[in-house]
Formats: sequence, structure tokens, C-alpha cells
Amino acid sequence: MPGRTLKDKVVVIGGASRNLGSLIAREIASDGAKVVVHYNSPSSKDDAMKTAQAVKDAGGESVVHEADLTKTDEVEGLFEVAIGAFDKVDCMVNTAGMVIKKPMAEVTEDDYDKMFAVNSKAAFFMMREAAKRLEDGGKIVTVVTSLLAAYTGLYSVYAGSKSPVEHFTRALSKELFGRNISVNAVAPGPMDTGFFYPAETEDSIAFHKSSSMNGELTKIGDIAPCVKFLLTDGWWVNGQTLFVNGGYTTR
Ligand SMILES: NC(=O)c1ccc[n+]([C@@H]2O[C@H](COP(=O)([O-])OP(=O)(O)OC[C@H]3O[C@@H](n4cnc5c(N)ncnc54)[C@H](OP(=O)(O)O)[C@@H]3O)[C@@H](O)[C@H]2O)c1
Repeated sequence: MPGRTLKDKVVVIGGASRNLGSLIAREIASDGAKVVVHYNSPSSKDDAMKTAQAVKDAGGESVVHEADLTKTDEVEGLFEVAIGAFDKVDCMVNTAGMVIKKPMAEVTEDDYDKMFAVNSKAAFFMMREAAKRLEDGGKIVTVVTSLLAAYTGLYSVYAGSKSPVEHFTRALSKELFGRNISVNAVAPGPMDTGFFYPAETEDSIAFHKSSSMNGELTKIGDIAPCVKFLLTDGWWVNGQTLFVNGGYTTR
């Protein structure tokens, strides 16, 4: 039976400077995890350093690394940093993502390329690299969106570019049979972070809120414990997409 605690487990978190990725790092730190805090934009460096310090304060260990995960050599570099610092990698959690909300008729080629680069390509190569580098008994979690179960317009290129991750998840989970590595996707509802608001209006925010069981948006605090569960006691969950959204969408 694989170990179910994160004590001394090395966890690479893509997009850990703030919001969901940062909270996941903090949540697992108190268990004694060794966290590789990834950030992408140079402007995220200070937040990434704060996350790394919070991990240490909570009893874990941490290193910080900048990488554009749409570039495969930088994905490889992130895992190299993890192995250089901690000699192994046990878990990979990828929260990198980007949203555009507009009618399909207005989506440009550049919009399409950017969205698929972050939401699909980066996710794919983070998973591929994890498949190569993870210790047996490891865990892989990729953050997608509850819009994958929604019948709605305006998110064609966002939800469409997250959607392949479900198949990557199923395929890789099957390929890793025999190594006790579980592979899952977590699909949050609309989350109360700076990621969400710029794409929305007052009316659409009210609609999103009205679509959950308590009239509120999903909180990062509702998602991080589910990710931690998948990395620990939830190890038997495998090949799934978990919709964690207060009933916002179901399937
Ligand atoms: N907020 C929501 O409403 C919501 C709902 C459902 C699902 N999600 C998903 O949840 C995840 C986390 O979102 P969040 O709300 O916590 O917002 P967030 O903090 O803005 O997370 C997005 C992350 O993606 C990273 N990123 C963007 N481009 C990248 C690239 N080229 N290479 C590597 N990393 C890149 C960002 O890093 P930098 O800032 O350093 O560039 C940032 O850390 C995303 O995947 C998002 O799609 C969000």
C-alpha cells in the first residue's frame, strides 16, 4: 500500500505563487512536504517567495523556480530543479491556466494559440514529465474547470482548451497502472480569485453565484483540501475528473 502522508514527499506545484496553487502549497506544508513553488511571470516572484516562506514556516521545505510551462525545455527544467534540490519527485500538481471569455466569432488565432498553449500544452507536458520522473506511488493532479460540464457559450476557447486534459488524465492513469501512481483532474466552480473577475460582469457574477448551493462562488479553501486528499488518503481515486463546485455543474 502506498504511503498516505506527505511527510518528506516532494511536490512540484505549477502556478504556486498565489491563489489556489499557493494555498495547496501551504496546506501540504504542515505535513512536512517538500514543495517546489513554480511561478511564470517575473511579477509573481515576490508572491512565490512568500509562498515558499509560508511553506517553511509551516514545517515543510521549499524551493522557488520560474518557468514558462508552455515551453517543454522549461517544464523539464522545473523537474530538474526539483530533483537537484530534493533528489526525487513524488507528486505533481498543475494549476497553470488562462481564461478568455468572448463569443467564438471574436476569438482570434492568437487567443486560440495562447489558450491551448497554457491550458492544454503546458498541462500535457507537465503530465508527461511527471510520468517520466515520479517515484512509484506518486500522484498527478491537474486543475481544469467545472465549465467542462456546462452547456454555455462564451467559454469556447477556455473550456475547449481545458477539455483535452480529461483525456490526458484518463490515458496517463491507465499507462501508469502497476506503479501505483494515480492521475486525476480537479474541476473547480467559478472561484473567488483575481483570475475570475476580469472576464466577468456584475450580472454574470450574480448568475455564477446563484448557480451554487449557497449562492456563493467557490473558494480556494474549498478546493485545496480536495487536492490534498487526492495526494494522500484519496489515492484510490484514479483517472477521474472531480467536480468541486457546490453543485454549479454536474455530470
Ligand atoms: N478562478 C476561477 O474562477 C477558476 C475556476 C475554475 C478553474 N480555475 C482554474 O484554476 C487554476 C488556478 O486559477 P486561480 O484562480 O488560482 O488563478 P491564478 O492564480 O491566476 O492561476 C493561474 C496560474 O497560471 C499560471 N500561468 C499562466 N501562464 C503560464 C505559463 N505560460 N506557464 C506557467 N504558468 C502559467 C500563472 O502564473 P503567473 O501569474 O506567474 O503568470 C498563475 O499562477 C487555473 O488553471 C484556472 O484555469 C479557475
